[in-house]
Amino acid sequence: MANESSKEYSWQQIPRPIVCLAPMDGITDSAFRRVVRGFSPRVVLFSEFTSADGFLRSERLRQRLEFSPDEHPYFVQLFGNNPQAFREASLALAQQGVAGVDINMGCPSRRIVHSQHGSGLMRDVQQACRVVEAVASTGVVQVSVKTRLGWSNADGLGDFAGSLADAGASLITIHGRTYNQGYSGRADWEPIHALKKRLSVPVLGNGDVQHLDDGQARMGNLDGFMIGRAAIGNPWVFLPGEQRRPSMEERARVIEKHYRLLCELRPHGKALLEFRKHLVGYLKGFEMAKTARVRMLRPRASGSFWTWCATCPP
Ligand SMILES: Cc1cc2nc3c(=O)[nH]c(=O)nc-3n(C[C@H](O)[C@H](O)[C@H](O)COP(=O)(O)O)c2cc1C
Repeated sequence: MANESSKEYSWQQIPRPIVCLAPMDGITDSAFRRVVRGFSPRVVLFSEFTSADGFLRSERLRQRLEFSPDEHPYFVQLFGNNPQAFREASLALAQQGVAGVDINMGCPSRRIVHSQHGSGLMRDVQQACRVVEAVASTGVVQVSVKTRLGWSNADGLGDFAGSLADAGASLITIHGRTYNQGYSGRADWEPIHALKKRLSVPVLGNGDVQHLDDGQARMGNLDGFMIGRAAIGNPWVFLPGEQRRPSMEERARVIEKHYRLLCELRPHGKALLEFRKHLVGYLKGFEMAKTARVRMLRPRASGSFWTWCATCPP
């Protein structure tokens, strides 16, 4: 666990454009973040989202958020709606040296929204602001918010984001889809550009960015962008131009490094299962027959990744 002080940390210190690995549950664990860090020292890394209440109760959840010093700048994303829990969790995280706490106000999952967490907070501006104030009032971590265009359209985005900034959010990321859209359709960046004209805090765009150059082309007046799905099994997205085309050897080297880092975090069997979703990404577009790919991903099939990994130290 890093022990660098987070008090002095500020978004102003991050060179523009601010390029981030988007928080992704089940994906952006410490192993993957370290793989991404290996590609670029400048990418800002976000944890998987974690319940603020759960963080206070569960040792397992606290462990899940641990990080190594090379992951800095590292932000933890929390969800919930209880200001006191956010405050206590932020104080504890600051002690551990995280750069900041990002508040999830964009998750569209029914279970999360039903509890008035995630996207649910878009419909309760006052509670959303209380949560932001609770983290900001600690004075020891940066507080940012990641949200969406709105519930069913972007009409209220300016007022909502303005209130969050007034409450103390020092950066706001907008995923260019509404709650109703989920992940369907294309991300619309127009309302995000319009929002930036109204806000004085940094604004990041998110949604459908394929790689570094694509993000730079889309960002316009924004301060930066996040890359999510395109990075799964493809951390080369954070490199410019031609460097994004790894040789087979390079790809194999990264797969092995990623898997070994994951094995440092999880029991072997669990690591194997979790690694599957990354491996699917790493093998996408690979010059190999579909049947060979399917076999590689099948547990315990001969010639599969699983048999290869059996050679790993326990
Ligand atoms: C598997 C998965 C898990 C995600 N988990 C989170 C999360 O924990 N917190 C969050 O704010 N967004 C989460 N997201 C949304 C992404 O951060 C991002 O906003 C979305 O995928 C759009 O960006 P992209 O087109 O670059 O992927 C998740 C997305 C995916 C695909």
